[in-house]
Amino acid sequence: MCYLNNNVSSVTNMDSGIEKIVNRYPRKIRENLIPVLQDIQSEFGYLPEEAIPHLSEHLELPAVKIYSVATYYNMFHFESRGKYHLQVCAGTGCHLEGSDGILREISRILDIGDGEMTIDRTFSLELVPCLGACHLSPVLGVNGVLHGQLTNRKLAELLDHLRIT
Ligand code: FES
Repeated sequence: MCYLNNNVSSVTNMDSGIEKIVNRYPRKIRENLIPVLQDIQSEFGYLPEEAIPHLSEHLELPAVKIYSVATYYNMFHFESRGKYHLQVCAGTGCHLEGSDGILREISRILDIGDGEMTIDRTFSLELVPCLGACHLSPVLGVNGVLHGQLTNRKLAELLDHLRIT
């Protein structure tokens, strides 16, 4: 099922897909917020904005509370991502070790910038704060797995490997 088109029918499909997931959970049990967010993200690949009113009504939680939980945990994201989500660390340690060059090289090879995704949806790119492995600077996260001490050569090999897997 395609959830990406913005026509009326796909919106309806998305709403009904969200509704189906939300209804697996009992009403008003606010402790289910995180599991239901996880289920929605797992189904759609991200958290569609349309999920918020459904959740708010079902769990009787203010939308602002749902947003604050969803944005607090970095496992949740509101935008669609590629099969491989690349996170270039923009922390000080990585910056000093050349993360700008890594970002430029990814952009050159994949023709995408920060916040973008390749047309085939294989790669998406995000510039993020310190990934917590400064001793390995410069660091790149791929779906949460960290690759350290990157050079342009290592990066090209990594992207080639990911393309064929
Ligand atoms: S500055 Fe990049 S991992 Fe800390």
